[in-house]
Amino acid sequence: MSGLPKTGIVAVIGAGAMGSGIAQVAAQAGHGVLLYDAMEGAAEKGRSGILAGLDKLVAKGKLPAQERDALAARITVAPSLDALAGAGLVVEAIVERLEVKRQVFAALEQIVTPDSILASNTSSLSITAIAAGLKHPERVAGLHFFNPAPVMKLVEIVAGLASDRAVLDTLFATAEAWGKVPVHATSTPGFIVNRVARPFYAEGLRLLEESAADVATLDAVMREAGGFRMGPFELMDLIGHDVNFAVTSSVFQSYFCDPRYRPSLTQQELVAAGWLGRKSGRGFYDYTTGAALSEPATVAPQPAPGVVTIEGDLGPAEPLADLFAEAGIAVTRTDGPGLVRIDGASLALTDGSMATGRVAAGAPADLVLFDLALDYASARRIAIAKADQAPAGAAEAAAGLFQALGKTVSAVDDVPGLVVMRTVAMLANEAAEAALVGVASPADIDRAMTFGVNYPRGPLAWADAVGPERILAVLEAVQAAYGDDRYRPSQFLRRRVASRRPLAG
Ligand SMILES: NC(=O)c1ccc[n+]([C@@H]2O[C@H](COP(=O)([O-])OP(=O)(O)OC[C@H]3O[C@@H](n4cnc5c(N)ncnc54)[C@H](O)[C@@H]3O)[C@@H](O)[C@H]2O)c1
Repeated sequence: MSGLPKTGIVAVIGAGAMGSGIAQVAAQAGHGVLLYDAMEGAAEKGRSGILAGLDKLVAKGKLPAQERDALAARITVAPSLDALAGAGLVVEAIVERLEVKRQVFAALEQIVTPDSILASNTSSLSITAIAAGLKHPERVAGLHFFNPAPVMKLVEIVAGLASDRAVLDTLFATAEAWGKVPVHATSTPGFIVNRVARPFYAEGLRLLEESAADVATLDAVMREAGGFRMGPFELMDLIGHDVNFAVTSSVFQSYFCDPRYRPSLTQQELVAAGWLGRKSGRGFYDYTTGAALSEPATVAPQPAPGVVTIEGDLGPAEPLADLFAEAGIAVTRTDGPGLVRIDGASLALTDGSMATGRVAAGAPADLVLFDLALDYASARRIAIAKADQAPAGAAEAAAGLFQALGKTVSAVDDVPGLVVMRTVAMLANEAAEAALVGVASPADIDRAMTFGVNYPRGPLAWADAVGPERILAVLEAVQAAYGDDRYRPSQFLRRRVASRRPLAG
């Protein structure tokens, strides 16, 4: 499988944020690049922007000045669409409107040679629809870069219904040669990343709407227990609520209002208020200078227990047994349903149901649930939730146990699945569904989520580490708790659990 020859000319249409970035990537890979924009002066501006970025790298000693000059020489502004005639690959990165993109592709078809590949960087439009009506729809495919294109490694190679396999293979090999991590995807709403990532935002918003905790606490739990670089609220503030809400709404509409993708009223209100996040100075957080920083809610220091009894297997929380012992707590093990008993509280990993419901069903009355962590040894924070029936002091006693391990503890309300477990289960479920309907292979889905949005682990591999059976049980419990189809487990997950096969690979 070979990519575009190095001598091949790459044309980029649209010199905005994405087009400029893509032009830079192609030039850095050695291609001559033609940059075209319909707006007067925009291509020149795009080119100057690229060069200004390169100048900064030269100033920092990260790029030799010679290399900068070579790159500058490789990027040429094209005065018209006709000037793109010699391109072996055209990457379209113009406004996200189907009719406009179709016009551009129809015009291009008259200009480029028959073996030229036509790619679109669209985030949300159907590649099939963009290619429809062309004389040669088989040479059209998606080449979906992430922002900023020179930095983000992932490129989704998106197949429309008519896309030729050889075209997709060439794009894949080209992206690889450009130092990117390409993955194959079919043209479905949101492709891989913008679809599988939806629950990251949606579950955060749901938890907030149910007053599970405030935004700073939920963000801190997702970062410091979940291992995500950013929590959902700070990330939505960074992306911009207008953009994030539009993507969610578009995916929701495209899937004919499947409740899995239902947008949030809370986010709609932020958009209506013009509180778009960092760019407008206010979103979930206040970014105006002098504004008080929101701090996560944290349980005050509590005494450490001297002894703990672990009844049964703790599953993915099993590393806690060694951590307790290392912290100087005497550990006794007996058979049981997976409980950690200390004076004043019985702790259990969330199984997707409420602590309050578990007590009603026979669990000890002093039950306090704790959340999933990416890695219990390195997690800096743990979320806990006590049952409504628990006596005063149970949450504090449970907090004392985790604090003895050097962790900060956040008490959240007794919501089904807590914070990290519920989000990870839903991400894995969405990844499983995407695999089921052939959006991409399980391996490519995990790769896309780690390289496209920097998740600490691919959702499917993460579910394998937790145990697919446990993830299925969590989803079933959360679905039962809410009676909401949004949480229905994917058939892919059910089948893998039944056949005892891992989800990834
Ligand atoms: N911004 C992102 O985070 C991101 C990420 C991945 C993909 N995308 C996709 O990339 C594309 C471009 O996004 P962007 O953020 O760079 O937009 P942008 O608004 O920054 O740039 C678009 C450019 O296209 C030009 N343009 C518009 N219509 C044109 C036409 N008919 N012919 C030639 N040029 C035309 C505009 O003048 C503008 O300079 C969209 O399809 C978008 O969905 C965006």
